[in-house]
Amino acid sequence: MTPTHRRLREATSAAHERVDALFGRFDLQRRADYAALLAAHAEALLPVEALLDRGGAEALTADWPQRRRGDEILADLDALGITPAPAETGDSVPEPAAMAGMLYVLEGSRLGGRFLVRSVPEHWPKAYLASPQPSHMWPELLAKLDSLLYDPTLVDVAVTAANQTFGRFEAAGARWLGKVS
Ligand code: HEM
Repeated sequence: MTPTHRRLREATSAAHERVDALFGRFDLQRRADYAALLAAHAEALLPVEALLDRGGAEALTADWPQRRRGDEILADLDALGITPAPAETGDSVPEPAAMAGMLYVLEGSRLGGRFLVRSVPEHWPKAYLASPQPSHMWPELLAKLDSLLYDPTLVDVAVTAANQTFGRFEAAGARWLGKVS
């Protein structure tokens, strides 16, 4: 594990435990809960992807277009009859170190998605949670983040952005869980 990865993981582990516990409370055998989980993820994911687009995430990792999952989550929501509100991102353009933190959280969340998708009934739309990714793409991203965040102050910026990104998932998850429980 690179030192940057270790720092990002340690500094966000409390936030990860909270989202893990929160999203574990959606009953994925119930269609309303599954739809609510996807709606919550969309509410968090779409604005962050929009920020990464605006900030030029391709300069950090050229395969950014293949990593995006906005279209997949919108397709699932459409199939479930849900139209999410447009992503609000304001006018800010994130700096590269902040984008590194965002990418860490969005790409890391695929790892949990792989576990969650096993609980989703076979015939339901699951382009988002099941979206395939070759296994080399996670370590490749971590290596890029390690060279980008060469200075401790840059790592701090990434950690703050990563925790804010987790915060978006936590806030959206709590709101949507409240609607179905
Ligand atoms: C019930 C929901 C979730 C479960 C069960 C879960 C589970 C996991 C597991 C088992 C891993 C480690 C996988 C591995 O090392 O191969 C992981 C990693 C990770 N997850 Fe989650 N996760 C959940 C939700 C989320 C969400 C909503 C996010 C972000 C929004 C997230 C972000 C991450 C990140 C960033 C990592 C990488 C940690 C690292 O190795 O540095 N997870 N998750």
